[in-house]
Amino acid sequence: MRRIVVIGSINMDVVSNVAQFPKPGETIHSRDTSFFPGGKGANQAVAAASAGADCVMIGAVGLDPFGNTLMDSLKDRGVGVNSVLSKKGTSGIAIITVNEEGENYIVLSEGTNGRLTEEDVAAEVNWDGVYAVLLQNEIPWETTQYVLQSANKAGVRVWLNPAPARNIPEDLFPLVDTLIVNETEAEVVSGVKVEDFASAEKAAASMIDKSTASVIITLGEQGCYYANGRGEHFKIPAIRVKPVDTTAAGDTFIGAYAAACTEGLGTEEALRFATAAAALTVTRPGAQSSIPTKEEILAFMNK
Ligand code: ATP
Ligand code: RIB
Repeated sequence: MRRIVVIGSINMDVVSNVAQFPKPGETIHSRDTSFFPGGKGANQAVAAASAGADCVMIGAVGLDPFGNTLMDSLKDRGVGVNSVLSKKGTSGIAIITVNEEGENYIVLSEGTNGRLTEEDVAAEVNWDGVYAVLLQNEIPWETTQYVLQSANKAGVRVWLNPAPARNIPEDLFPLVDTLIVNETEAEVVSGVKVEDFASAEKAAASMIDKSTASVIITLGEQGCYYANGRGEHFKIPAIRVKPVDTTAAGDTFIGAYAAACTEGLGTEEALRFATAAAALTVTRPGAQSSIPTKEEILAFMNK
């Protein structure tokens, strides 16, 4: 099986549960605060490895107590960590507030993720035997652009999840094999307001026109829309569950989809597998702690 490489962020999530989000200027009590390993890159790596992929991560943690915990969480879930660097300074931290509906607000402090350089990646990356590289937007954009160029030169497909949302320069669209965006990111990247399958179809068409081979738009509890430049498209409804905490739903979806594709599943089957994985994630608290194993996903799909 070919490898998945994730180049991205690793964060400690500090999660406070509240009845309702505070209004500006208001102080409220949290019911409970917990520390969970997270970060979009690390979550996607954990999701891919847990769903059965051979997955390695390139990233950076701080030389602080969080650094060891974050490294251990990746190792425990089977992610290769030989290229996770330990740098002076504080690890990335995400301050997350979750309400009773399982919705969240996230404030991100980039820490050592903000110092993962092009040179760091060049020294660590080996494109031999790689199926796809997964990128997000929580490391410096210059590093991400370097990976886009380097992977394309090596003939490796790039899957880009520009989250948190940012626009993408026109000349980079052809370097992206699959763009994976939620509703907010789809609007920022395409300029089309996305709120349902019909608007997702329009947004995806505009991204494919810019020469990205495939686009996946995730629509939260509605599901996801897939389209590619060959005219194939799928609408996959979400699986109805009672949300506890939606943090890492998107990351789980992406990692599980990548794992299913490396195993040779067709696109539609892989999207259904990813949809089941993400549904399980929203029923559990935390980021990496909520990501299911392949066995759990298959059992859930067979129910
Ligand atoms: P997050 O930032 O919370 O990790 P996201 O905004 O990147 O997530 P979403 O579009 O919210 O991504 O969700 C990704 C996928 O997770 C959806 O396509 C869907 O399959 C699943 N999902 C999300 N929310 C729910 C929900 N409430 N119920 C069932 N499945 C869900
Ligand atoms: O996508 C969820 C992740 O976003 C959290 O784990 C948090 O670290 C933020 O990066």
